[in-house]
Amino acid sequence: MHFIRGSHIFFILCLSWIATASQNARFSRADSPHNNNLKDVPVRVTVGLQQSKNTITDHFIGHSLGWSLNLLPHVSSKKLQNLARALTPMWVRWGDPGVTYIVGGTHPSGPGHQWHDMTGEQWATYNNFFRTVGWDLIFILSDETIRHTDGSWNPDNARQLLQYSADKNITIAGFELGNEYNLYKGHFHTMVTPQQLSKDVNTLRNMLSEFPKYYSSFIMGPDIAGIDPIYFKGFLAAGAHNTVRAASFHQYYIGAGTRSLSNFTNIHTMDGAAWMVGQALVQTRSVDLLLPVWLSETGSATNGGVQGMTDRFVSGFLWLDKLGVCARQGIETVIRHVFFSPHEYYGILDKDLNPNPDFWLTVLYKRIVRGAVFNAGGRQDVRVYAACANTDNFKAGSLAVYMLNPNNYPVTFDLHQFTHQPRFRYTLTAGDKDGLVSRYIALNGVKLQLVNDNLPPLKPESAPRGVVTVPAYSYTFLVFPEAEVSICLH
Ligand SMILES: *[C@@H]1O[C@H](CO)[C@@H](O)[C@H](O)[C@H]1NC(C)=O
Ligand SMILES: *[C@@H]1O[C@H](CO)[C@@H](O)[C@H](O)[C@H]1NC(C)=O
Repeated sequence: MHFIRGSHIFFILCLSWIATASQNARFSRADSPHNNNLKDVPVRVTVGLQQSKNTITDHFIGHSLGWSLNLLPHVSSKKLQNLARALTPMWVRWGDPGVTYIVGGTHPSGPGHQWHDMTGEQWATYNNFFRTVGWDLIFILSDETIRHTDGSWNPDNARQLLQYSADKNITIAGFELGNEYNLYKGHFHTMVTPQQLSKDVNTLRNMLSEFPKYYSSFIMGPDIAGIDPIYFKGFLAAGAHNTVRAASFHQYYIGAGTRSLSNFTNIHTMDGAAWMVGQALVQTRSVDLLLPVWLSETGSATNGGVQGMTDRFVSGFLWLDKLGVCARQGIETVIRHVFFSPHEYYGILDKDLNPNPDFWLTVLYKRIVRGAVFNAGGRQDVRVYAACANTDNFKAGSLAVYMLNPNNYPVTFDLHQFTHQPRFRYTLTAGDKDGLVSRYIALNGVKLQLVNDNLPPLKPESAPRGVVTVPAYSYTFLVFPEAEVSICLH
């Protein structure tokens, strides 16, 4: 979101905590007697097939659009529509806390206006695009400019928008109220307490109930930046856990300071997400035993990403690891920021609507992985995740295992339970000689590109049985079609 561009004190605190923690981890690892010849030994992987803590649904990965009308000039583009459809079904999270809805009028002109107002026509055009490509909208309602003097949210403008939308039969799957409240003080010099926000989502719930079209639409919250226990838990405990469909928070690994290429292949950077996701789950469970938890906005680096890194092949390590971490730890939905933002660098499309490497990675993940999630071992220098394979593309009972090797040496994995099993393999490497900073990604050695604005077939290769070697700086998906994993059969 545009907040990310501003000061980010909370994140910096949080990141320095993680940096200290990882430094400690680094020291203890360096002391390990096994460290010297680590890379020469195969990684023995045992997948815990008896038990699953989480299920990856077809909506596991969503995308946000931030606040912008950036897609407006492109909504009729066949290329954009093809790219968008390749991610369907998915949640699209869009909107801004500071927008005024001008439902009947025309668009005001003048500098700055396009960022702060939205006409009914623009709203309808966006929603028509979402319907065309099959995306399910979660809309961020504005709240920050429209509060009563007692501090409570004034829903009048939102009600006008809903009336207009109901008249036009626009479907809105879910809502969010405002964004990153724990940063409001810095940005807007106002403060909405978690208790007030809990009351406000109740007001929103009551308002949605006035409209048959939105009666069963959901609300999520509090959508704060990072995990601020006072805000996050305070909001849920104030009663909101009964109102929201999911407890939601935002995470970025890398803040506004020094950002180097090595950040993006660093195992300790990856650990930052595991820590924050764990905190979100612990805090939610302390209030509500069943409420789903969503990572409702996430990327690798704040402040628009890092040119030449978050838009390149190297970005995939943190992205794929985050998907693995969230799936394993019990997150229901992960919403990647951002789908398209031509003046920033963390979009999965570039400014000319061409796919960045993370687009292809996301499409492959959706096609390959779906269903129950299993624990898989690993080693401190690599990451391994396992889940059922997507039965849209593989037969029931198939198992998917994905392995990340963010090191400058190849790593061999010994998946000893499946040594003699046939397998399909998707090896993802840098798409050209630029290596980690390549604009492209290669699948089984072939650079992925659109063909006449359409996706090419994304076919695996049949790989030999036995151990699996993952090249330096690459990641691999394996599917074992004969695994007959009982949890994956149903
Ligand atoms: C309104 O939208 C719903 C959901 O897309 C659809 O099933 C229904 O047919 C639409 N109704 C009208 C009157 O167009
Ligand atoms: C990123 O790398 C730089 C330079 O190596 C380092 O100073 C910084 O702490 C790293 N950031 C994170 C979040 O690890």
